Amino acid sequence: MCSSHNLIASDKRGIVHDMAMEQAMAPAARFFDDDRYLRTVVAEKPPAKSAAEAHGAARLAGCRAGALILDAGCGNGRHAVPLARAGYRVVGLDSSGVLLAAARRAARDDLWPHFVRGSYTKLEFEAAAFDAVLCLGTSLGYLGDDGDLAALREFRRVLVPGGRLVVETLHRGEIGARLREHEERPLGYGGTLRVERRFDRARGVMREAQRLEDGTGDASPRTYELRVYGGDELRRMLEGAGFVVTGCYASLDGEGEPSSTTPLVLVGEAAAPGCGSGLGQ
Ligand SMILES: C[S@@+](CC[C@H](N)C(=O)[O-])C[C@H]1O[C@@H](n2cnc3c(N)ncnc32)[C@H](O)[C@@H]1O
Repeated sequence: MCSSHNLIASDKRGIVHDMAMEQAMAPAARFFDDDRYLRTVVAEKPPAKSAAEAHGAARLAGCRAGALILDAGCGNGRHAVPLARAGYRVVGLDSSGVLLAAARRAARDDLWPHFVRGSYTKLEFEAAAFDAVLCLGTSLGYLGDDGDLAALREFRRVLVPGGRLVVETLHRGEIGARLREHEERPLGYGGTLRVERRFDRARGVMREAQRLEDGTGDASPRTYELRVYGGDELRRMLEGAGFVVTGCYASLDGEGEPSSTTPLVLVGEAAAPGCGSGLGQ
């Protein structure tokens, strides 16, 4: 499955200038472009854990050595960088300039990953360019159902037929269970993250406000809204975008079933053209 392909990206700095994207992304972009999000991720996601997740995702995607992988919503590159160091050719795409800058620092002068700024709803890559697409750590859900479906269709378009998509995201079953309305998380370096959540169960939407108290000055709240899917809902959405769902798990290890204490991991295989219900729409 994992052969080599040409890919076309954006300009030389890897920045896609797209005002419509900037506007569509505005609420989530404010959240992710704030340096406090980066500080929180660095504190809560140790490199060894991120590398283990990344390797699990590559296994679920069936990647062979040297596979060309798109990490869609790559954040600070915590999965893309270890995958590149393991020999995969990885393109990390994200809409956040702050997170991409951190990703480029982490990659140092290595040939891979390539980091590209843009929205996954409108990918600047050729059709069938990638052997696998990863969308990890809850990178979907910030643009509502229509935006998520547009993203999944783009993932299908840029995948070779038979190539796999791995999505790891918050699971709707976690709402009110692992995800409580109030949460206080101590961070390794001495700070505290205070989280307030509200759930609109009818819409499957979670609104979260975070306050980071770490003595660096600004503890004002930052908010975002996230569409949180159940397994069947996300499965239908993948099918509508032209995937055949081949796995549903509780973790990127590919084990267990999603529950009230685990994320939701779905694996979809890009159907051959003409086989997927949502292709060409
Ligand atoms: C919760 S973070 C996860 C990042 C990374 N995958 C990880 O596991 O650390 C969600 C990421 O999705 C990115 N994102 C949200 N909407 C996006 C869009 N439309 N296009 C590209 N990236 C997007 C954000 O900028 C952010 O980096």
